Amino acid sequence: MQELQNQITTYEAEIKSFSPANAIDLEAYRIRFLGTKGIVKQIFSEMKNVPVAQKKEAGQLLNAFKILAEERFEAFAHLQSTETDTKESLDISLPGVAIPLGTRHPLRMVENKIVSIFEKLGFSIATGPEVEDDWHNFTSLNMPENHTARDMQDTFYVASNPDWVLRTHTSSAQARVMERGELPVRVICPGRVYRNETISARAHCFFHQCEGLYVDKGVSFADLKQTLYYFVTEMFGAETKVRFRPSYFPFTEPSAEMDISCTVCGGSGCGLCKHTGWVEILGCGMVHPNMLRNFEIDPEIYTGFAFGMGVERITQIKYQVNDLRLYSQNDVRFLRQFQSIE
Ligand code: PHE
Repeated sequence: MQELQNQITTYEAEIKSFSPANAIDLEAYRIRFLGTKGIVKQIFSEMKNVPVAQKKEAGQLLNAFKILAEERFEAFAHLQSTETDTKESLDISLPGVAIPLGTRHPLRMVENKIVSIFEKLGFSIATGPEVEDDWHNFTSLNMPENHTARDMQDTFYVASNPDWVLRTHTSSAQARVMERGELPVRVICPGRVYRNETISARAHCFFHQCEGLYVDKGVSFADLKQTLYYFVTEMFGAETKVRFRPSYFPFTEPSAEMDISCTVCGGSGCGLCKHTGWVEILGCGMVHPNMLRNFEIDPEIYTGFAFGMGVERITQIKYQVNDLRLYSQNDVRFLRQFQSIE
């Protein structure tokens, strides 16, 4: 009995001074004192050697010892549970969960690229409303009422007001810049435009344009050619060739359409260039004197060039997209293909 008493006193001192730093210390304590082969069990098994007369006293002693050992463990139980929780919820060696990335729309990427090329040349961005009045969309651009050139663009009219249209080109935004009367003008106008076309792979009732305008003293056709040539080499690569064909637009004189050497076959002939080696990319020309006069700019002093391109067309050439409808169907399988581009 005395010996049991001594053992308990020694262990009690150990228990009271036990102060674990972490779950590992605590677990070692649990095994040493409270485990199936631990000290508490072992001391309890000494009961059988205690004389009957002292059993009651020994039982109380042992119970108190057991409670002490258990309470000390409980006092540090938070160490154990925190450590376990952390292990379960945060395993930093696991591979991360992939968050699906969105992608810019291909038309937006190409528009950004076009705009940034012209920005490098000193053009600034100008925008305007998509619902336009007749003056900005047609009349001021040398297309007065009943001008046959209005038929070149199948127009959506706004039913509530015969003077309003959905703009058929972003030249209307250029008109708004010119009417500010600040010269020189050097703007690029990106935006959505509308035409009353039956939707098919090759036509849509809305599409996007980037149109440019430069008005200053002494602007020549050579400036136009060089500007557009720079654009083409930046957009499609230094080896790309350009050619200009005479054309007609009411707001430019002379007018031209610009082709580039086919970027797919390099000129030898393929489906994109319809075996001609050339693909048309934009319309352009020298700003018509009538248009300058409409904005009280003297065409004897100022000249300018203008050009307009379809963003869908540039995207089609650059990424071989063969169906215009893909751009507005929001099919992620189509859109995802452009994820890694920009
Ligand atoms: N605005 C014309 C169109 O939409 C394009 C263009 C712009 C042509 C400027 C010449 C000069 O078709």
